[in-house]
Amino acid sequence: MELKGRSVILGVTGGIAAYKAAQLLRLLRKRGAEVQVAMTEGATHFVTTTTFQALSGKPVFSDQWDARMPNGMAHIDLSRQADLILIAPASADFLARVACGMADDLLATMVLARDCPLLVAPAMNRQMWENPATRRNVAQLAADGVRVLGPASGEQACGEFGAGRMWEPEEIIEEVIAFLAPKLLDGKRVLMTAGPTFEAIDPVRGITNLSSGRMGYALARAARHAGAQVTLVSGPVGFSAPQGVDCVNVVSALEMHEAVMAHAAAADIFIGVAAVADYRVANVAAHKLKKDVSGVPVIELVENPDILATVAALKDGPFCVGFAAESSNLEEYAQAKRRRKKIPLIAANLIQDGLGGENNRLILFDDEGVHPLMLAPKSVLASQLVEHIAYLTGKM
Ligand code: PMT
Repeated sequence: MELKGRSVILGVTGGIAAYKAAQLLRLLRKRGAEVQVAMTEGATHFVTTTTFQALSGKPVFSDQWDARMPNGMAHIDLSRQADLILIAPASADFLARVACGMADDLLATMVLARDCPLLVAPAMNRQMWENPATRRNVAQLAADGVRVLGPASGEQACGEFGAGRMWEPEEIIEEVIAFLAPKLLDGKRVLMTAGPTFEAIDPVRGITNLSSGRMGYALARAARHAGAQVTLVSGPVGFSAPQGVDCVNVVSALEMHEAVMAHAAAADIFIGVAAVADYRVANVAAHKLKKDVSGVPVIELVENPDILATVAALKDGPFCVGFAAESSNLEEYAQAKRRRKKIPLIAANLIQDGLGGENNRLILFDDEGVHPLMLAPKSVLASQLVEHIAYLTGKM
């Protein structure tokens, strides 16, 4: 429910991607937003107003002179409470009209009369997108502060390939959430680790752990929503990086160490969420170990570098945040880790609460004391932790 309490005007213009606006509307509502739909006359040729009315639970407007508005001021009344206007799909014609400041139908008039931000998700044939007139209009809109989402490249409804496909509804929603989130880490460069590492024994086997990457990925997403530029160094996990986050995929602790050190000097904040293997195999076999050849194999271990402690020891290095996963004595062990690694903040969790699943419970330890965060989805805890990091770094 990241959009709970938010009010969005969804403007739908004429294009085949208008059918995707129905799914976009569903997702906006699912995330808690109140949505008022307004359509151009062209859009109603692709999808009916009834579809959007049923999905939004509100009457849909497409005519400036709609008799349902008692004062005849639909363009003002409909948009005044909105947090933003989102046009998806935004046709080439509509972008041109907005770029010129035209007010020749209800939606264009609402856009001109708005007192809230405007986001547009263009969708059109690739030649229309590449046309110098469209390029000019889009540049003008960007210069006017309009946020342009996409378009994507790929196969188009007309059968041609190129740029002009509307972003998928999930991608647009993600940008809307990011756009509306408070910018607590605006402009900060956040470097993070997440997931497990995998230490090879031979070409098919290895030592790893049950970290799913969920906590770290949720934190990367929350930091990005808060306005940070996020680089995520990730061990092997089963999902892709959050939108807008630069991801460096690694496998072993040594690779993670190398990738982190390559970015650490430029970072303002470093957050170590990864469950890094403390040891790696010294004698990695070049070929698959065979049973019965020379008895039970002996695996010799050597210690991996402590990435967090190394970053924390950098001169003028980033503000460092560690994690500690324990199965008992949480406070004692977490505090000891914070002292040993010389970091200002550690987020402690019990493995039975947080390892692998969707939810977690955290206790934050810093110089000011102890701050428990209640059991909640990892996305919620991630936002709370970002708030706390913003508070601590804001004091420096
Ligand atoms: O991925 P999920 O399934 O969502 O689970 C999340 C989590 C439980 C893995 C996460 O919340 C968490 O607690 N991560 C830290 C795991 C841990 O206990 O690490 P540690 O005690 O080995 O290390 C303490 C800190 O030092 C961590 O910040 C770790 O990233 C860092 N470290 C450890 C060893 C090492 N060689 N280099 C490091 O940087």
